Amino acid sequence: MHTNETVRIVEVGPRDGLQNEQHRVDTAIKLELIERLGNAGLTCIEATSFVSPKWVPQMADHAELMLRLKRKSGTRYPVLVPNMEGFDAALACGAKEVSVFAAASETFSQRNTNCSTTESLRRFGPVLDAAMREGVRVRGYVSCVVGCPYEGAIDPLRVSEVAGELFALGCYEVSLGDTIGVGTPDSVARMLEAVSRRVPVAHLAGHYHDTYGMAIANVHASYAFGVRVFDASIAGLGGCPYATGASGNVATEDVVYLMQGLGVSTGVDLDRLVETSDWISGVLGRKPASKVARAVLAKRTSH
Ligand code: HMG
Ligand code: MG
Repeated sequence: MHTNETVRIVEVGPRDGLQNEQHRVDTAIKLELIERLGNAGLTCIEATSFVSPKWVPQMADHAELMLRLKRKSGTRYPVLVPNMEGFDAALACGAKEVSVFAAASETFSQRNTNCSTTESLRRFGPVLDAAMREGVRVRGYVSCVVGCPYEGAIDPLRVSEVAGELFALGCYEVSLGDTIGVGTPDSVARMLEAVSRRVPVAHLAGHYHDTYGMAIANVHASYAFGVRVFDASIAGLGGCPYATGASGNVATEDVVYLMQGLGVSTGVDLDRLVETSDWISGVLGRKPASKVARAVLAKRTSH
């Protein structure tokens, strides 16, 4: 079955995935990962974050990575920035797209960025102004859209306020992060209902972590709601350094497989993706967290 629908996948493995690795991953490995992901057909790959190296040492090589990055034409390489210092550094390294990030939970905001949500939004004003002047696109993230590791359940209305402010500031898209993966299709749909009253669904993305194994179900529920952009991480890599126990994002392979089953095009070659998943998991000394990758690899070795 084929529909005319398409879904855009934002690959966040090199950033959200690798920011949480215990051991330092070489810049050369990160660059090879980004190249392989591009060759598998991913056209939006979040490459790194320009945050404090004291806070997130895994991303300390951000400048070197961006300077050495071989850009594929037609592929975008957004980077995370928390403030003007990050924006200026990213711009100096040739970034053409950045993402700012705020949280629907005050405690998470303090732990993640050492400031309140209001203060983090205030810092984004100058970032968006400068980005506009420089022709840089800005995406916005909201963390803790269903639950917070410190505060528990989060009110969908608060999520809609933060998402609405990011959109009003000029973010072209707002990515909704279930940071600790506690959402279920119903709680995610309730959250989307509230947020879509402030931000049109065409400008929303789902960013679901898989801690409770619900991420792919949440992608499906969001797709049914009308969301057409999903963040995903190769091999399900990752977590968040400020959300202990949180696991990686929904695996990119799983999203591609789900969309194939729905007759929805993603532009991604599943075989090449699985090869990349197998390769990076091997480099990190583990098996892919993605069940799709495991199944495809098991089938290959049995032939
Ligand atoms: P701070 O310590 O409050 O900042 O950190 P400060 O302004 O007082 O500066 C302190 C030092 O940091 C100074 O250096 C600054 O130069 C430096 P020093 O004088 O001590 O040597 N600094 C920077 N260095 C590099 N890049 C910068 C930068 N800004 C200041 N941009 C700050 C505040 C926001 C910087 C810090 O808290 C930070 O870097 N936090 C980032 C945390 C992070 O990266 N978290 C993970 C990403 S978010 C995420 O994963 C969620 C998401 O996936 C969605 C979801 O799943 O929910 C997006
Ligand atoms: Mg995340």
